[in-house]
Amino acid sequence: MSRITRVLLPLTVALVPMLVVVPESAAATDYQAENATISQGVVESNHTGFTGTGFVNYDNVTGSYVEFTITAPAAGSTSLTFRFANGTTANRPMDLTVNGALTGNDVSFAGAGAWTTWQTATISANLSAGTNTVRATAVTANGGPNIDRLTVGDSAPPPLGAMAAAPYEYFGWGNPQRPTDVMAATGVKWFTLAFILSNGSCTPAWDGSRPLTGGVDQTNINAIRNAGGDVIVSFGGWSGNKLGERCSSASALAGAYQRVIDAYRLKAIDIDIENTEFGNATVRQRVVDALKIVKANNPGIVTYVTFGTTPTGPDSTGRDLINRGAAAGLNNDGWIVMPFDFGGHSGTMGQASVSAMEGLKAAVKSAYGYTDDNAYRHIGLSSMNGKTDVAGETVTTNDFQTILSYARQHHIVRFSFWSVNRDRQCVSGGDADACSGISQQPYAFTKIIVQYTG
Ligand code: GCU
Repeated sequence: MSRITRVLLPLTVALVPMLVVVPESAAATDYQAENATISQGVVESNHTGFTGTGFVNYDNVTGSYVEFTITAPAAGSTSLTFRFANGTTANRPMDLTVNGALTGNDVSFAGAGAWTTWQTATISANLSAGTNTVRATAVTANGGPNIDRLTVGDSAPPPLGAMAAAPYEYFGWGNPQRPTDVMAATGVKWFTLAFILSNGSCTPAWDGSRPLTGGVDQTNINAIRNAGGDVIVSFGGWSGNKLGERCSSASALAGAYQRVIDAYRLKAIDIDIENTEFGNATVRQRVVDALKIVKANNPGIVTYVTFGTTPTGPDSTGRDLINRGAAAGLNNDGWIVMPFDFGGHSGTMGQASVSAMEGLKAAVKSAYGYTDDNAYRHIGLSSMNGKTDVAGETVTTNDFQTILSYARQHHIVRFSFWSVNRDRQCVSGGDADACSGISQQPYAFTKIIVQYTG
């Protein structure tokens, strides 16, 4: 099935940064508008996409307000993110006060043309330790936008460390190296194992056919763990039957993911969403909703979502996926792009990877209302070593060095690549699933990514 290299977009690799310096990132807390103090507004639930049990309609009154009573663990600057909908095309300006004083933020609650399109607006504000009030007051006769909730603080970035440099390996094809040999030769600790697919129905299997337990995959996972490593399991890829399409609901899809999580007691999963699974909006929403369920049922589990990109960042489908994640309140740890198979780019592949990442950062920042720093900590990339599927897009070790510098500068969550199986020179012929197609030392690319620890 998925042994086609030419069309196969590499899967994701997950990196999990170490908790070294974590700037402003205490965990975020949500406060629902329907539970706040409301003056001259009403709680409603007639437009879908809200969180909690409803939202506040400001009722087209000047001076109507929502006041949140919030708790800050310490005095200092914190981000306040309002989730709102404005179905008109005009801004709905509001005065924002903290403890009765105007914050001075001139934030826009712009119209998006639909009351079901939820957006975020973020400001920085100084809070006192303990209880504070945050009030948003309509200043025109249109009233405010519909307000869903206030989030105080940034969501905590995921952990970094060895998990952040987990290259893809696949055991059913591509003449796989013994993972413990790879560990000994390179120092790599984490692998991203490809791919879990549908067996034709909503049941997960390696490459759609090998069993979760009792086969080569389980044997290798046990060996990696016995040698002090661990694995991220990747679902999807370019080829084969995707669980997102074969499971007919988010809860069924979450159940399929859960079977794999339970089989190996996984700490991290990667959804490599490509091809028809990526292209269908209903399926994208199902994957987002299933991941929310997985997050709720597996506290602390790390999730990555991996997809293709243009040289300047996600295309409209990729941005839609991220926006759906934000709208659903999915606290995804890593939005990961695969910066190759562009079909046209400028500069080196290292430079194109950096510009794709900058576009990704902007998309995640805008969707989630993160600070720049926290947006970087929620993005990553999975490159491809050597020849890719497109002529003129060969990725060299120099390109990996460029990416390594960028990763270290911004503390991105993951630096991975497709794949360990390809991380060696071809004996004869061109590149394929089992070699890179370029002149290289064994494991030259794995040895670069293991230098990244967050
Ligand atoms: C519509 C819409 C409300 C919204 C209102 C407004 O009535 O259904 O949800 O609050 O417009 O203009 O604010």
